[in-house]
Amino acid sequence: MKMSEARKVCVVTGSSSGIGAATARLYAKNGWNVVVNYSREAAPAEAVASDCRALGADVLVVKADVALDADCRRLAAEVEATLGRADVLVNNAGTTKFVAAKDLDGLDAAEFHRVYGVNVIGAFQMARALMPMLQRQPGAAIVNVSSIASMMGFGSSLAYMASKGALNALTIGMARAFGPAVRVNAIAPGLVETPWLQKGLGAERYAGAVQFYKERSALDAVMTPEDVADAAWWLGAGAAKTTGEVLLLDAGLRLTRG
Ligand SMILES: NC(=O)c1ccc[n+]([C@@H]2O[C@H](COP(=O)([O-])OP(=O)(O)OC[C@H]3O[C@@H](n4cnc5c(N)ncnc54)[C@H](OP(=O)(O)O)[C@@H]3O)[C@@H](O)[C@H]2O)c1
Repeated sequence: MKMSEARKVCVVTGSSSGIGAATARLYAKNGWNVVVNYSREAAPAEAVASDCRALGADVLVVKADVALDADCRRLAAEVEATLGRADVLVNNAGTTKFVAAKDLDGLDAAEFHRVYGVNVIGAFQMARALMPMLQRQPGAAIVNVSSIASMMGFGSSLAYMASKGALNALTIGMARAFGPAVRVNAIAPGLVETPWLQKGLGAERYAGAVQFYKERSALDAVMTPEDVADAAWWLGAGAAKTTGEVLLLDAGLRLTRG
């Protein structure tokens, strides 16, 4: 047995920032080893990795674009070789193009394909690459990070909304196919305070979006990355009887405060 094999392992895609980083830190805090993944910038991933190591975890950092199947398979092989097991996969890596839904010419087929490639096919490919390891672990689970955009008809682009709807369907299909060995659930957050929207909208529009969101949500709040990480922890490590669920995490936006 490899040194680290006694501890459970959580693989979090897109964990150099935002929700993925908070999720990796929470699993590490709870005594798990973690895999930190990113596709572009190494330094933020290394910073998250050192936070997790400071919490006692063994950490594997892997640069891999989840849209590329060869990258997903290489990531899985590195997990097997270094940490020896995978208990939970959090498919969190995502991408979008910020373009108004009414602007039909603002979105071309290549951009639409790229959003699908990361948000839907990426999640499928990661699940496929890790499935043999997941199926060896009792209580294994996959958690897909979807979005309220899949249900409400708003979000950064039509491609993004459609991709997250497809991810919900993938979640339900995989939950049926891979039970009882592997539970598969999704989280659909509303506005989460991460660099994603801050970069995508710019400071002024971002502040307006936060205000708009708070005014309409029953809890007068937006989500933090840690709020989503809490749900990813429960669905991954607990929730023994929950599968095929898409959990709306929206501070009550759907209830539309009167
Ligand atoms: N923020 C929100 O309001 C919100 C709401 C609902 C759902 N979500 C979902 O939450 C997830 C995380 O978003 P976030 O807000 O935490 O964003 P973020 O802070 O921008 O982080 C995105 C992470 O994904 C990585 N990434 C991007 N493309 C990747 C790829 N092809 N392969 C591997 N890693 C990739 C990024 O690293 P690199 O750039 O180095 O690749 C980064 O670590 C996404 O799926 C998003 O759709 C976010």
